[in-house]
Amino acid sequence: MIIKPKFRGFICTTAHPKGCAQQVRNQIDYVKSQPAINGPKKVLVIGASTGYGLASRITAAFGAGADTIGVFFERPSSGNRTATAGWYNTAAFEEAAREAGLFAKSINGDAFSNEIKQQTIEMIKREWGKVDLVVYSLAAPKRVHPETGEVFSSVLKPIGQTFSNKTVDFHTEEVSHISIEPATEEEIRHTIAVMGGEDWKMWIDALQEADVLNEGAKTVAYSYIGPVVTHPVYREGTVGRAKNHLEATAHELDKQLKEIGGEAYVSVNKALVTQSSSAIPVVPLYISLLYKVMKEKGLHEGCIEQMYRLFNERLYTGGEVQVDEEGRIRIDDWEMREDVQAEVSARWSKVDSDNLKELSDIEGYRRDFFQLFGFETDGVDYEADTEANVTIQSLA
Ligand code: NAI
Repeated sequence: MIIKPKFRGFICTTAHPKGCAQQVRNQIDYVKSQPAINGPKKVLVIGASTGYGLASRITAAFGAGADTIGVFFERPSSGNRTATAGWYNTAAFEEAAREAGLFAKSINGDAFSNEIKQQTIEMIKREWGKVDLVVYSLAAPKRVHPETGEVFSSVLKPIGQTFSNKTVDFHTEEVSHISIEPATEEEIRHTIAVMGGEDWKMWIDALQEADVLNEGAKTVAYSYIGPVVTHPVYREGTVGRAKNHLEATAHELDKQLKEIGGEAYVSVNKALVTQSSSAIPVVPLYISLLYKVMKEKGLHEGCIEQMYRLFNERLYTGGEVQVDEEGRIRIDDWEMREDVQAEVSARWSKVDSDNLKELSDIEGYRRDFFQLFGFETDGVDYEADTEANVTIQSLA
């Protein structure tokens, strides 16, 4: 079929298999163009199909020559519905990994469940014995608690007071004001349950109990801090509470892993266009200003550049892992540079619908968004009849 982008709210409901495959190849080529990483050899990535998790998997495989198991929640194609982008990304990743002689298998299902944890542990035992690195990169709107069955939904809201600020609709390029009502205590509790560290700890506990973590194994999960302008809706809001919980969990897991000489970290990453971040109000406008400023300064990075730097310059340098005063890895260091933030902040106060194109990289934001779903990618013929039914070989 001929596959075109189709929208519902902030998400694109179609994805292009050839475009997704090209995006994955571009990321692989980037990593292969960089010096090899003396890193982990057996890597489990939870949330491995898109965004930071996919980039982590690609970096481990093509940067460090690692065998990988990827866990994610994606949908195959059916009838005239395309698969999700993460499905196509994974099919392309596995194919490239196999061609390179690397082991790559995937598990598609709810990572919050006990069943998927057990299935993953069985695969590790059967195929590898033990893992060297566990990357935890889930971003989910909902979680069913595996013990109680309670269904939690995360919300993106401020805490304590209404938050009003600018936001942009990147489809219409209109800058407008948005007001978001504060979260209830119940909504805060729910968001912590979905995006906090409880499930990460459940994974590490289960892996440790099954004795499938190698001596010196590391685990890393991803967090975000960002600029003052988004603090009320992000870092000091519901998701920020969840990230506080995730960061506290890293300290707990770090102590726990000492038993096997292991380490646990949270890495604070740069704000980037992913399926998750495009749904956050205010953040897309900040990201488009940030992109423009960082591109002008020659500092711009995407997920793959960020993850390569995380592995090569933080996690696997052969020495101590460099962290901030709270024990966090900071690869948002370029985003948070004083000169970058001062320029973004000056532009933030001036930006409106009329000067949006001049002050921000809204075009780059929009293109990145389409590229998440395999569209607007060089080297792909979008008018060609395309097979939407693509197999992920390890799931066949
Ligand atoms: P994403 O939406 O691109 O990826 C989410 C991944 O989780 C996908 O692989 C998806 O299949 C998987 N997933 C979701 N629900 C699942 C479930 N129930 N079971 C199994 N897999 C499931 O998100 P992104 O942006 O890469 O986020 C990953 C982490 O990075 C999150 O913790 C996020 O807060 C963090 N982060 C993101 C930043 C950004 O600007 N995008 C900045 C800094 C941190």
